Amino acid sequence: MTLTADTLPTPLGGQLVWRVGNLDAAELATLPTLELSARNYADLELIATGVYSPLTGFMGEADYQSVIDRMRLASGTPWSVPITLGVSREDAPRLRGPVALTYHGELVGRLDVQEQYEAHKQYEAREVYRTQDEAHPGVAALYAQGDINLAGNVTLLRLDRGRFPEYHHTPRETRDAFAARGWQTVVAFQTRNPIHRAHEYLHKVALEHVDGLLLHPLVGETKSDDVPADVRMRAYRELLAHYYPAARTFLSVYPAAMRYAGPREAVMHAISRRNYGCTHFIVGRDHAGVGSYYGTYDAQEIFNAFSRAELGIEILKFEHTFYCRKCTQLVSPRTCPHDSSEHLVLSGTKVREILRSGGDLPVEFTRPEVAEVLREAYRDV
Ligand code: ADX
Repeated sequence: MTLTADTLPTPLGGQLVWRVGNLDAAELATLPTLELSARNYADLELIATGVYSPLTGFMGEADYQSVIDRMRLASGTPWSVPITLGVSREDAPRLRGPVALTYHGELVGRLDVQEQYEAHKQYEAREVYRTQDEAHPGVAALYAQGDINLAGNVTLLRLDRGRFPEYHHTPRETRDAFAARGWQTVVAFQTRNPIHRAHEYLHKVALEHVDGLLLHPLVGETKSDDVPADVRMRAYRELLAHYYPAARTFLSVYPAAMRYAGPREAVMHAISRRNYGCTHFIVGRDHAGVGSYYGTYDAQEIFNAFSRAELGIEILKFEHTFYCRKCTQLVSPRTCPHDSSEHLVLSGTKVREILRSGGDLPVEFTRPEVAEVLREAYRDV
């Protein structure tokens, strides 16, 4: 494992894509319009602000096929999840050439449709999500898209910093922030959950070796039983204020929708964080997984398909971490010799049960300040 770097990584493809502004609002008003879903809108912003560099638009058929079949764009560049815009067969014929994109009825951007093609959703589900089960939330979202993919370059009318403006940074801005702090190595942490002690342990092990931590919670669409982003943000702030060195930590939001694509999504997450300027990315147990669709370490093994140089970001892999009563500390199977009866492991369901009944989460599992934020949130529901 290399934990040194002289400079922050270049974006994938060499240059940060920036496709924001420079739109003629009067002209946009004359174009056919297409209303975006929350996940389409998130993808539009991620493309336009360079998070998905080198993509400049929704994928054409050659990239779509290539990404599904070999986890690479047609050019050979690593890419693991199709970024597509599906519309219905009925809608497709009126959406040719320039199209005005709307979200909640407001104009948000422009798509120059260069190509229309059939989405192979069952096939995509099997290859990308490793299941065709509609009970999988990512597969359900894929099936809910239209059957015809529109491809072409996009432009975002203006950057909307959403619900957490103070924490909503583009890759340009995170790169500037890291440079201003003099960080040469930055580890990114993706999460869609409150930060428990196991997560904190991963951060702190990594911080022993790198200059800074980008705590980068996903705040786009998640499934309904995940903890809402506003509650999580309160919990992250409490945690950072009490337990993290401020000069070595940067909290920012990742505005993507969650796909729950496990291993394939881990690769997406890593590439995006490279584009934000990070040198390292944490992948623990069942990264971006849901239910029992993926093996515990599938999301680590998938990185064997890429060389370190082409990925451009170092993956810090961690085994399942938990508190051991005998060791009296956070451990993993790599560091602890004791029987599993000594280990404190709580499932998400169990945690929610405790919170709903107003009970206390053990301090070995969650910091009291975080538990308090969660308890309060669950008291309201
Ligand atoms: S995810 O969908 O964003 O991956 P989550 O927020 O639970 O879900 O996990 C964030 C990161 O922490 C992932 O890399 C995941 O693998 C890792 N992780 C979560 N819990 C543990 C744990 N107990 N031990 C090791 N890694 C973990």
